[in-house]
Amino acid sequence: ERIEWEADAAEKGGYEHYMIKEIHEQPHALRQALSGRVGHGSVDLDVDLPEEYVRSLEEIQVVACGTSHHAGLYAARLLESHADVRTTVHVASEYGFTGGRDPSRTLVVAVTQSGETAETLGALRDAARVGARTLAVTNVVGSSVARAADESLYIRAGPEIGVAATKTFVSQVATLALLAVHVGRERGVLSAAAASELLGDVRGLPGAVQRALDADQQVRDVAEAYADSEAFFFIGRYLGHPVALEGALKLKEISYDHAEGFPAGELKHGPLALVTEETPVIAVLTEGARPDETLNSVKEAESRGAPVIGCHSDGHGEKFIDAAFEVPALGEMEPLVANVYMQLFAYHVANRKGRAIDKPRNLAKSVTVE
Ligand code: G6P
Repeated sequence: ERIEWEADAAEKGGYEHYMIKEIHEQPHALRQALSGRVGHGSVDLDVDLPEEYVRSLEEIQVVACGTSHHAGLYAARLLESHADVRTTVHVASEYGFTGGRDPSRTLVVAVTQSGETAETLGALRDAARVGARTLAVTNVVGSSVARAADESLYIRAGPEIGVAATKTFVSQVATLALLAVHVGRERGVLSAAAASELLGDVRGLPGAVQRALDADQQVRDVAEAYADSEAFFFIGRYLGHPVALEGALKLKEISYDHAEGFPAGELKHGPLALVTEETPVIAVLTEGARPDETLNSVKEAESRGAPVIGCHSDGHGEKFIDAAFEVPALGEMEPLVANVYMQLFAYHVANRKGRAIDKPRNLAKSVTVE
């Protein structure tokens, strides 16, 4: 018994749970994802996507589940704005190749940490059957999705044990940001200068994420102060929207609290009816997340007495925030740093409640049945 316990503690590297260990591994995971891939205004991804094919692309379709779906939503916005290619994101269990699309001019990207999610594998196979080219973005070499896809792009996050995905999310988005640069450059729509700017922000992620991690004690204090709230609302716009969805998913998965994430502008179209002094609103107020518009929603919540927790850069909304988490300047990667604060927040709420953080009830790390 004792030996088993010691081995377990050693594997967690002194952390109480795998989840918090993996949250703290994010700077390292990001460096691995970027290693050898980022040049000056260009990227080297080692995937076989012929230039002619990339130029002829009409649509990219992302298929994924859970946290990977949120990474896909973030990436789609980057692909549309930097590579000028229409990108649709599908929950894999809802996917079907429909409409008048030409499969030979469609790239289907399956985003899956494990590479084993049955629905994602099924969607990728459906796409391949109609003749679309397929790309797996995964953490696991030799996984089912990697084997079924034409090409694989690995996120190199290292093994993730905690059921709640953390480091793989940030690594997925960073890797997909590189794909957006690659596609944008090949299509001739992204200048070397614009590529350099985005790549500079991506390269700044490990350091910026580390700064968020260094504020762990502050996040813990805030999380403990609000842990007994009735429900939690996460809001953000544009790149802040997938982060709001992910923040809410993380919290509900491990704390079993009611949490909802939605685009900030939708607050007034329904959820506002639920907002009270007992429902903290966690907002993404950074670059890339339309902070000025999001602030309107923050004010709506604040005037109903809701505590507002802001993950903000550049002092956005500070007058309306009860607890502020500082995000360093990092352009379109800022919402990802906000996400790290949300991971820590979820962890500390759940830990205070004594939840089974690494193995939440009813959930599995990888779901291999449909
Ligand atoms: C399960 C896990 C989630 C994960 C989802 C997709 O539901 O509990 O954390 O996001 O599967 O997993 P994948 O391996 O395809 O990224």
